[in-house]
Amino acid sequence: MNKVVLITGGSRGIGKAIAFEFARKGYNIVINYMAADKDLELIKKELEEYNVETLFVQGDVTDFKRWEEIGKEVIEKFGKIDVLVNNAGITKDTLILRMSEKDFESVVDVNLKGTFNVTKNIIPYMSKRRCGRIVNIASIIGVVGNAGQANYAASKAGIIGLTKSCAREFAARNILVNSIAPGFINTNMTEVLSDSVKESINNQIPLKRQAEPSEVAKLVYFLGSEENTYITGETVKIDGGMAM
Ligand code: NAI
Repeated sequence: MNKVVLITGGSRGIGKAIAFEFARKGYNIVINYMAADKDLELIKKELEEYNVETLFVQGDVTDFKRWEEIGKEVIEKFGKIDVLVNNAGITKDTLILRMSEKDFESVVDVNLKGTFNVTKNIIPYMSKRRCGRIVNIASIIGVVGNAGQANYAASKAGIIGLTKSCAREFAARNILVNSIAPGFINTNMTEVLSDSVKESINNQIPLKRQAEPSEVAKLVYFLGSEENTYITGETVKIDGGMAM
């Protein structure tokens, strides 16, 4: 019986690369997405070329009640959830002096509270089977902070604390919970930056370049698979040496 991975915000960027990495390894894939678009059909087709089953579930991570339903839908189709990847995230960058209360709240609501909402509704299924893996996508910004990203940094630092607490609470149930802290990755989230900003960030990275989502996906696969047997509560940086 194939293992099952659920990825929030899995229809593009890092989330999509994670879905393909797990599909290549024979996992059945549950992709959560916000809004339907034409790419979903193509992603489904391409994933199923790996001889795995897929389920696409619409849902906003800020909608706690919806995640009760999604948990039931996944269990109905696959009977279990082996791996949860909390990947959905947004930015609303500006300096604190210009940051509205809403800018702060909405980023924390999606990135941090969203991670709680999904985890709270999915982890009972892992707990019952006494096995599971959770990988939360934090950020290097949650570790070192960044001017213009107070809301984002706070949300991602919060994810790191949430990860450690979950790791402690569920260790006895054989559920390993980790975060990763990516640096500068080539996705829609960073595409909006000007070439000069990208160049100046690349200059601060010892490896002198952005990473591709597929490079991040390999780390998520390791932490989320049974190859990881002894890492829990950790935050693993994947940043080309940016914050060593
Ligand atoms: P992206 O913008 O391409 O993907 C974000 C995904 O989250 C999208 O699929 C979007 O639909 C989904 N999403 C947003 N709000 C949602 C909500 N309320 N409910 C459900 N889904 C929602 O960006 P990217 O880069 O792929 O980001 C993925 C994760 O990686 C995020 O958590 C981001 O903070 C994190 N990250 C990205 C870095 C980068 O340089 N791109 C660096 C460090 C962390």
